[in-house]
Amino acid sequence: MRVALGSILLFLVMACRPQGDVEASNDTTTGSTYYEDVKPILDAYCISCHGDEAGIAPFPLTTYESAAASAELIAEEVSAKRMPPWGAEPGHTLLKFDVSLSEEQIDLLVAWSIDAQEGDSENEGGPIEVDRGGLKRIDLELPMAVAYTPSVYPDDYRCFALDWPEDELTYITGFVGLPGNREVVHHLLTFLVPPDQAELVSGFDEMYDDGPGWPCFGGPTPSVDYDGASVFGQMLGVWAPGMGGMALPEGTGVPVSAGSVPVLQVHYNTLNSYASDLSALGVQLSHEPVRAGFVLPFFDLSWYMDPSSMTIDAGEADAQHGYQEAIQDNYIFQMVGFDETGAEIHSVFPHMHQLGTTISVYLDRANGDREYLVRVPSYDFNWQREYVFEASLTAEPEDRLGIECRWNNTESYRIEHDMTPTEPEDVGWGEGTVDEMCIATMYMTTP
Ligand code: HEC
Repeated sequence: MRVALGSILLFLVMACRPQGDVEASNDTTTGSTYYEDVKPILDAYCISCHGDEAGIAPFPLTTYESAAASAELIAEEVSAKRMPPWGAEPGHTLLKFDVSLSEEQIDLLVAWSIDAQEGDSENEGGPIEVDRGGLKRIDLELPMAVAYTPSVYPDDYRCFALDWPEDELTYITGFVGLPGNREVVHHLLTFLVPPDQAELVSGFDEMYDDGPGWPCFGGPTPSVDYDGASVFGQMLGVWAPGMGGMALPEGTGVPVSAGSVPVLQVHYNTLNSYASDLSALGVQLSHEPVRAGFVLPFFDLSWYMDPSSMTIDAGEADAQHGYQEAIQDNYIFQMVGFDETGAEIHSVFPHMHQLGTTISVYLDRANGDREYLVRVPSYDFNWQREYVFEASLTAEPEDRLGIECRWNNTESYRIEHDMTPTEPEDVGWGEGTVDEMCIATMYMTTP
């Protein structure tokens, strides 16, 4: 499927070339060269994963030879917008830390791939600056207690409880994932478990004797052989290679009470190796009170109460579920007072599991206008991320927030995405690898 689409694109590009070009010598080319045009793009957008050192990507793109050897594949992946992983459709709420290529850059890589000219290293194009965010400082590093060696192929999802050393109310004002071993760490998620559930979470590690931590997937609750109570961790942040730290908007922070337990969920990808890892969470703190922000989930609570109310039928190629509700009527928003004040929304993290194909989060204004916070038309579980708005959005109490999710639950889709089992079965809401979710987590403050 992938190859077929790429070949068609490539065919179209070839077909558009002037006739005489095919036979022509190297000096009648598309004009673009590796050193002048391509290297600056690869350096800025690709080598954070496709680096020389062991990275999470299967091959480096750091030299002319390596780039030329994959020129066609590069053209195919960037045209399909699978690389670099970004996901968000342009044209909606403006996003910060956008690491996607412009149409001009894509055209350039496609044109270059036809003859993959090297050019002259003396004429190397200037560097391209990409804003990936970052923290001013890391005040606290919270490492895993001991190293873990992933053992599940091709993906091992593992949770680790971290020690929270602060003994009074503190505000987290920024977050960064600190991967221990880039050869195996695909991404990091952090949940903050409140003190009243700390004991429950602390018991999980001992329940699993296959090494430190416990298997988990959609949240901090164990995803294998567990039928106890769920843990409701507030999601703090996500990190993937090439992402900088995430500083929360100036003057705001997530309040953390003493006795809370941060849980680090690591997605290990074991396609290339089973090396051991000791990752950490880095945080920026304020001990002085700042404006409290909340990382809140938006979803239909009835999906959670009755997982079958979000059934995705076996064999269904385009299953859909959605939900919308006015800010003032939403139970979770009421708990923090947004039903009275409305909410200022700073970022959104759309989340489904492996069958997910498309996810959108929108705001329906009282005057009937719809604004998409984000639309991810080709959702990829492996490349989910948090999208930060260039300017925050203010939602009035009567504005309606909505989420729309689509899934493909066919055998061919499961095979194509290396899922087990490949035989479709009815799927409902849940935190396990074979369950699904449809949720948008947002960082919100009082306007
Ligand atoms: C955030 C990490 C990351 C970044 C940034 C990234 N890649 Fe990748 N790339 C990967 C991973 C991991 C794979 C392996 C397949 C997968 O997991 O999707 C991959 C696979 C590929 C493939 C092979 C696809 C296939 O089907 O075999 C190509 C070609 C590629 N990347 C090109 C690029 C180019 C060009 C850029 C920059 C414009 C880029 N990548 C940026 C992580 C990344």
